[in-house]
Amino acid sequence: MMVSLGATLCLVLGVVSCSITTNYYQELINQETKKALSYDLPTNNEEFKEGVEAQTIVEYGDYDVVIVGAGSVGCVLATRLSEIENLSILLLEAGGEENDFSQIPAMFLYHQFSDINWGYYTTPQKYSCLGTNNRQCIIPRGKVIGGSSAINALIYARGGCKYYDKWAALGNRGWFCKDVLPYFKKSENSQIHGDEGYHGKKGFWNVEYSLPSSTLFNNYINGGLQINQRVVDYNGVNQFGAAKVQSSIKRGKRQSLGTAFLANARKRSNLKVVTKALVTKIIIDQQSRVTKGVEFVTNNQKFHVRAKKEVLVSAGAINTPQLLMLSGIGPKTHLKDMKIPVIADLPVGENLIEHPLFNVVVRTNYTLPDTNMSDLVELYLQGFGPLTKALGVDGIGFPNTDNRRQETPSIELHFSPPFDIDRTIFQRAMNFNTTIGDTFINKINPKSDLNIFVILLNEKSRGRIWLKSNSPIDFPNIDLNMFEKQEDVDSLIEGLRYAFNLTKTEAFEKLNATLLEVPICTNFDKDSNGYLECLIRNVAVSMYHPCGTAAMGPDREKFVVDDTLRVHGIKNLRVVDASVFPLPVPGHTNAAAVI
Ligand SMILES: Cc1cc2nc3c(=O)[nH]c(=O)nc-3n(C[C@H](O)[C@H](O)[C@H](O)COP(=O)(O)OP(=O)(O)OC[C@H]3O[C@@H](n4cnc5c(N)ncnc54)[C@H](O)[C@@H]3O)c2cc1C
Ligand SMILES: *[C@@H]1O[C@H](CO)[C@@H](O)[C@H](O)[C@H]1NC(C)=O
Ligand SMILES: *[C@@H]1O[C@H](CO)[C@@H](O)[C@H](O)[C@H]1NC(C)=O
Ligand SMILES: *[C@@H]1O[C@H](CO)[C@@H](O)[C@H](O)[C@H]1NC(C)=O
Ligand SMILES: *[C@@H]1O[C@H](CO)[C@@H](O)[C@H](O)[C@H]1NC(C)=O
Ligand SMILES: *[C@@H]1O[C@H](CO)[C@@H](O)[C@H](O)[C@H]1NC(C)=O
Ligand SMILES: *[C@@H]1O[C@H](CO)[C@@H](O)[C@H](O)[C@H]1NC(C)=O
Repeated sequence: MMVSLGATLCLVLGVVSCSITTNYYQELINQETKKALSYDLPTNNEEFKEGVEAQTIVEYGDYDVVIVGAGSVGCVLATRLSEIENLSILLLEAGGEENDFSQIPAMFLYHQFSDINWGYYTTPQKYSCLGTNNRQCIIPRGKVIGGSSAINALIYARGGCKYYDKWAALGNRGWFCKDVLPYFKKSENSQIHGDEGYHGKKGFWNVEYSLPSSTLFNNYINGGLQINQRVVDYNGVNQFGAAKVQSSIKRGKRQSLGTAFLANARKRSNLKVVTKALVTKIIIDQQSRVTKGVEFVTNNQKFHVRAKKEVLVSAGAINTPQLLMLSGIGPKTHLKDMKIPVIADLPVGENLIEHPLFNVVVRTNYTLPDTNMSDLVELYLQGFGPLTKALGVDGIGFPNTDNRRQETPSIELHFSPPFDIDRTIFQRAMNFNTTIGDTFINKINPKSDLNIFVILLNEKSRGRIWLKSNSPIDFPNIDLNMFEKQEDVDSLIEGLRYAFNLTKTEAFEKLNATLLEVPICTNFDKDSNGYLECLIRNVAVSMYHPCGTAAMGPDREKFVVDDTLRVHGIKNLRVVDASVFPLPVPGHTNAAAVI
């Protein structure tokens, strides 16, 4: 039916214009995927070097509000604030613009190997990522209008409303479920028939299903039902259960917050957006602790801009703590080591939270039919098909793994049916070493192996971000420190065992499902927890959800911002991004950041 709709559209538009667009996209995909395979990620901010080292500082003028970073949150802030007509706003973004390629959901891994990703890796890890090159997991972060929402996997999962009561329980007024729900609804334009009272239908940010679902989607849902999972609206009344993924896409294309929010707001005369502009320092008066403005670099020049009311930092969970520390806000001893004058001694960069992810590969006797790119592109242009999904994922689940009464889930599953993927990009994105690459990734048969990603949601381990030097040219050090705590390993083992149970259901037996083994940890008994622990420490990777590095709470010994997101002890400075999450989100971080 959809193909014939496409054919009709082409007839209406004229066959020629239709095939020109199709050709353009095919060529684009061809070029960009090739480029990505050989693209070297940067290792520092050298592109801004000349500006950083400039001797003169050019005055940029006065604005009421200066926003640092046009990522998920920065785009929303700039849009909402510029609704106030007499407020002048400057939005500074280090990256450039989104493009037609970045809008294609299925290309999501390729987006990481281009100049719209900062290019971070962890420091060599002790307890996890042991099967990666140099024990360094990759940490993609959007460096572009829309920020990480311009390169992410598009899954819309708030984490369940009740979870936010835990934020409030830490002493944060105004962050109960009942307080945040109206904001989730305000931004959302939901096309799904979700639970009554939980979804917005008039917001700027589109949420829809990627259609059609994969051929094997019903096996996933039925398998879940066979082990007593309900089918739920996981952004609704009850998060526990299995579901179709609610996606941040609009007619199949990526809905970053840049597209959903900023694109329109940019036309307003009271909002100025500058791209390719790296903010290098927040200017705070040492005596009065009043924030005065920021210094930034663009076009090989250094600028100073005054903020008459406030500076809002929304540079994301990696760059925000870096910028705060470069500006004198952070752990005192570390700042002294870096020869940075201390303005406020706060635990910036600590409490780095990350969800670990383990990929269970399941061999089936299903075979994905051959497709050709021209057909896929045509479907995509109509808003449908495999190109509208990241990694093919269309099933999601939040099982109650230990069958106790949990308040919020500790495990999340993604169901990724067989889809056409170049294993090379998969390997690059996981940064697995050549042994794992050759003996595991290259053994995956994309046409008939499906993936169940098992994700830990309530991790107790915490990492840390700290500076390499006092220069904004250097990347910060990022230690995710996943699985330092044994209970995190134990919880994920439960999750893996749940996934194994799922593959043993009748619905999966129909596919003759068997596990594809990672040929490591061979000295362990395959049924033992020790075996699974060994696998986890070697091949679990990061889920790309860093947060918590400028956490919100009342006590300035433990937290960086108060419940109005003001930096403790500093005037006119707020952090407004995923850095402020005090606890891991039992879901994904994009919607939570946008609240
Ligand atoms: C590959 C990937 C997949 C993901 N998948 C999902 C998913 O499926 N669902 C989900 O909900 N979440 C997902 N996430 C996480 C989610 O996208 C992020 O949590 C969210 O975008 C964070 O928003 P933010 O505003 O805090 O930061 P960001 O969106 O990262 O924004 C920070 C912005 O600040 C800019 N910036 C940084 N430093 C400076 C500076 N010094 N000067 C100027 N500008 C600066 C950056 O370039 C960027 O544009 C994923 C993330 C990634 C990377
Ligand atoms: C904007 O206008 C409102 C209402 O007219 C006023 O209260 C406020 O002070 C003005 N703000 C600025 C920045 O001029
Ligand atoms: C890759 O990692 C595995 C698991 O830690 C290890 O056994 C193997 O020696 C590593 N290979 C290389 C080439 O580093
Ligand atoms: C792709 O399929 C279409 C029809 O479905 C066909 O016209 C076209 O020739 C095919 N292209 C390739 C490269 O096989
Ligand atoms: C897996 O199934 C077994 C056998 O039914 C059951 O005992 C166990 O609790 C299940 N494990 C999980 C994590 O669901
Ligand atoms: C089921 O899978 C096993 C192991 O991969 C294989 O040996 C067997 O032939 C398969 N059976 C069917 C019916 O596909
Ligand atoms: C796949 O395997 C199952 C179980 O062995 C079998 O019933 C089914 O017919 C097989 N399907 C195909 C396409 O081989």
